[in-house]
Amino acid sequence: MAISPTSWISPLFWLTIVLILVSSIPCYSADPDLLQDFCVGDVKAAITINGFPCKPASEVTPDDFFFDGLSKEGNTSNRYGMSLTPGNVLSFPGLNTLGISMNRVDFAPGGLNPPHSHPRATESGVVIKGRLLVGFTTTSNVFHSKVLTAGQMFVVPKGLVHFQKNVGKGKALIYTAFNSHLPGAAILATTLFGATPAIPNDVLTQAFQVEEEVVNEMKAKFST
Ligand SMILES: *[C@@H]1O[C@H](CO)[C@@H](O)[C@H](O)[C@H]1NC(C)=O
Repeated sequence: MAISPTSWISPLFWLTIVLILVSSIPCYSADPDLLQDFCVGDVKAAITINGFPCKPASEVTPDDFFFDGLSKEGNTSNRYGMSLTPGNVLSFPGLNTLGISMNRVDFAPGGLNPPHSHPRATESGVVIKGRLLVGFTTTSNVFHSKVLTAGQMFVVPKGLVHFQKNVGKGKALIYTAFNSHLPGAAILATTLFGATPAIPNDVLTQAFQVEEEVVNEMKAKFST
């Protein structure tokens, strides 16, 4: 029996579509999928891998899966009037490889969590107390923002630059959640003006179209 061109091209076509779909699946998850129930991180291990090696299961205790680091109010007596307490794999090694983490952020009146981005995670957050202006910009430079109060939630898509500012009269508090055990944060002011070694002045004057005095002033404020 003669094979018509379409009867064998068609399966190839569908196989190609399936392969394209399968190869794109990893794009939907931030951290890789688990290979075991848990892997309590040995965050002080001498070897480095993508993540942390697992503590031997025989040494794992219930305490490895609980963390009280987010229960205390942070000290907001600093230039931003803000205190960030991370509940990530470094402070809570039980999160290792699980693909999630949370932060607590306290704000004094007027306090600011300055513009930053998380290279490895989408962020969602809920306001527990106070009144906060929450915003992010897209890669098309569209600014999305809203003032939120207790119980209200927000989302910041992965990698986009965002901030929160306390616009209420009293203190404010949010808890944020991430689809990474270590979302990372590039804080724009420090990543550009506080890098070590420093980014050359001519790069920054040209990038921001300002005089060198402005760059020097920024570097003086953010160098560490
Ligand atoms: C908060 O931080 C400031 C500045 O570092 C310090 O002077 C103050 O003692 C701290 N307050 C508390 C309650 O720890």
